[in-house]
Amino acid sequence: MPLPLDEPLPRDWWSSAVVYQIYPRSFADSDGDGIGDLRGVLGRLDHLEHLGVDVVWLSPVYRSPQDDNGYDISDYQDIDPTFGTLADLDELVEQLHARGIRLVMDLVVNHTSDEHPWFEDSRTSPEADRRDWYWWRPARPGHTGGEPGAEPNDWRSFFSGPAWEWDAASGEYYLHLFSRKQPDLNWENPQVREAVYAMMRWWLERGVDGFRMDVINLISKPLDLPDGDAFALVADGPRVHEFLAQMRERVFADHPRAFLTVGEMPGVTAQEARLYTDADRGEVDMVFQFEHVDLGIGPGGKFDRLPITMPLLRASLMGWQTALADTGWNSLYLDNHDQPRAVSRFGDDDPAWRERSAKTLATVLHTLRGTPFIYQGEELGMTNLPFSSLSELRDIEALNHVAEQEAAGRPAEELLEGIRAVGRDNARTPVQWTDAPGAGFTSGDPWIGINPNHVQINAAAQTGVPGSVLEHHRALVALRHDEEVVARGTVRPLAMDHPDLWAFERELDGVGLLTLASFTRQPLVVPPELLQGWDGSEVVLATSEGAAGVLHDGTLPGWESVVLRRR
Ligand code: GLC
Repeated sequence: MPLPLDEPLPRDWWSSAVVYQIYPRSFADSDGDGIGDLRGVLGRLDHLEHLGVDVVWLSPVYRSPQDDNGYDISDYQDIDPTFGTLADLDELVEQLHARGIRLVMDLVVNHTSDEHPWFEDSRTSPEADRRDWYWWRPARPGHTGGEPGAEPNDWRSFFSGPAWEWDAASGEYYLHLFSRKQPDLNWENPQVREAVYAMMRWWLERGVDGFRMDVINLISKPLDLPDGDAFALVADGPRVHEFLAQMRERVFADHPRAFLTVGEMPGVTAQEARLYTDADRGEVDMVFQFEHVDLGIGPGGKFDRLPITMPLLRASLMGWQTALADTGWNSLYLDNHDQPRAVSRFGDDDPAWRERSAKTLATVLHTLRGTPFIYQGEELGMTNLPFSSLSELRDIEALNHVAEQEAAGRPAEELLEGIRAVGRDNARTPVQWTDAPGAGFTSGDPWIGINPNHVQINAAAQTGVPGSVLEHHRALVALRHDEEVVARGTVRPLAMDHPDLWAFERELDGVGLLTLASFTRQPLVVPPELLQGWDGSEVVLATSEGAAGVLHDGTLPGWESVVLRRR
């Protein structure tokens, strides 16, 4: 059972909770326009209840020109007509609460849309009331605004090209770390901060249960805006801890209810994450760190791929387990709307191994210390889509990258290779509900391609079916609810030099859990010392019945995992 909504919860209630992320555009379409919407979500709540999750994180549904699928917001206090109405949102809060599920909204306040009234006012002239709500700067001395190289500094946008846009009408540049339709807010200005806090309180009053904070460690910029790597200069900037502590104080402090705050923090180090999540400092409950999803980035950037081995992934995630063992808290995730599908990237999506490897990845993730996040479709073992042409792409990051690289003479086929591997559109293909045309997602023309493998991989084929990827996730969610040791136990990494076995022990008040997970197709002999003392232990969960045999012959079949418990 999920946690109660109406009883006082321990401060760290989220350690035994599991969060489910909905990317509404791709979740469920109720009106046949090919785009998911809130009524679509309302129609699929049984799925969430069946899975047993405690919290839903809803990616942005606010009013937006949809330049970055809603991460460019033009009105924080209204719903985009694409997704529905405020009444639909209220109904969602009510219906989720009725099922014991909390709702966390996406908070995108590093930037607004350039169509937000704040920015529309700001850009009218250097004297505008809200001019200082954004980062405006004149052209570099000795240069004429609008000419190549005249930008105030040499920062590059995360979505290709310079991070500055020339505004001829008001004669200055504005900063946008993301697309030029996403101008960065100036958090130095106390009016900006107060406006954001007021908006957050408004949502809490409406009944929502917290926020996932988009790129929140980028909100404090070094005031002199020096030349250099924008990302390195801005991440965990000079006043970010102060701003987050103030936000906590001004927004959450007087509220009696239990909230969840998670800060998305690209580039955050474990040392910084301890500060952000140290309960005594009062900033955020947990972070999304990026170290493990940034593995495999080659010298040419995100789309230039290097191989990722299991030991690399393990070293990264286990390093975070150790670093946050006594102070702070972490989220656990392999998938989200910005990442390729985990089973294709870290598992084995060959049809013969897909299910087993998807389950094994989940076993590892959900038995670690931290709060697990399931991204829509991950619980079904959904895979990357083998995009065959650039015309199938929808994501602004990929499209801008293609435009830039094609202009530099790189052939389409070469570009597609990197995008197929790590492009964000992989995560954004519609959720596969059924094997019907439209995958049960839409009766219309979907805004992005549906993976043809929905005929085999879909929720209808897995719900209530023992051994399915979905039922395995459901068992893992229940395990976290039922076993205190999963939620709060210590973690001891084991056999860290093994090339294919991921093993660790959890311990709390004399209860021990052992997770053994194989990351190879070949049968794997578990080093006998790992099994010493586990005779007579109980198998609490396994990828398949074959995995339980490890107690008899010490071997795990290909891509199997098992969780043992002893008291
Ligand atoms: C975050 C979001 C991503 C978005 C970016 C800019 O990383 O997860 O989807 O493009 O911020 O808002």
